[in-house]
Amino acid sequence: MIATPNDRFPDPLLGEFTFVGRSNVGKSSLLNALLGKKVAFVSKNPGKTKTINYFKVNGKFYFVDLPGYGYARTSKKDREEWRKIIERYFSERSWNMKLLFSLIDSRHELMESDEQLLEWLQILGISPVVLLTKTDKLSSNELNKQISYFKRVLSEYGVEKIIPCSSLSKEGIEDVWKVIVEALQN
Ligand code: GTP
Ligand code: MG
Repeated sequence: MIATPNDRFPDPLLGEFTFVGRSNVGKSSLLNALLGKKVAFVSKNPGKTKTINYFKVNGKFYFVDLPGYGYARTSKKDREEWRKIIERYFSERSWNMKLLFSLIDSRHELMESDEQLLEWLQILGISPVVLLTKTDKLSSNELNKQISYFKRVLSEYGVEKIIPCSSLSKEGIEDVWKVIVEALQN
């Protein structure tokens, strides 16, 4: 695991798959579920991941765990710091991304901070795969409703692929691997 300091990213010889989303949405948990082991730090307290964390997978590519955005109760200084880290990643490093996974909590509506990110990604010409997280907390009826809702609103941001998933029940984990493998073959 490499926690990048502000001035350096790891050698771009290997492509990277990046995970971005609001604080507490389940980015680190999803990385652990994908890898089947605990590599990323999970916490009940939002704002746990504060640096850009690179995880080398099978010596072939990186998973990148970005710090979460949008947590209201952090100080303005911290939020500003996170914004800088994320902006720097996208402006200087996103060229090395194979795919961007944008995580959104399946239980809620799209929040303003999600909208801001999606608008910004559109400007940058990046089309994320959206992962709707924590589906184990919804009944199948509720989940279907949320999927229709997200399909509708996310199409406005040019999002083409949505995968419902849960780090707890492992729903969708195989589907996420499928798009990773596909992206590696391109
Ligand atoms: P930051 O690093 O603060 O940005 O958070 P994060 O997006 O990395 O979230 P993290 O993986 O640390 O998870 C936050 C909380 O949500 C923890 O209490 C997790 O146990 C819980 N959680 C994550 N994924 C799931 C899930 O699929 N189902 C349920 N029920 N809880 C989850
Ligand atoms: Mg985290």
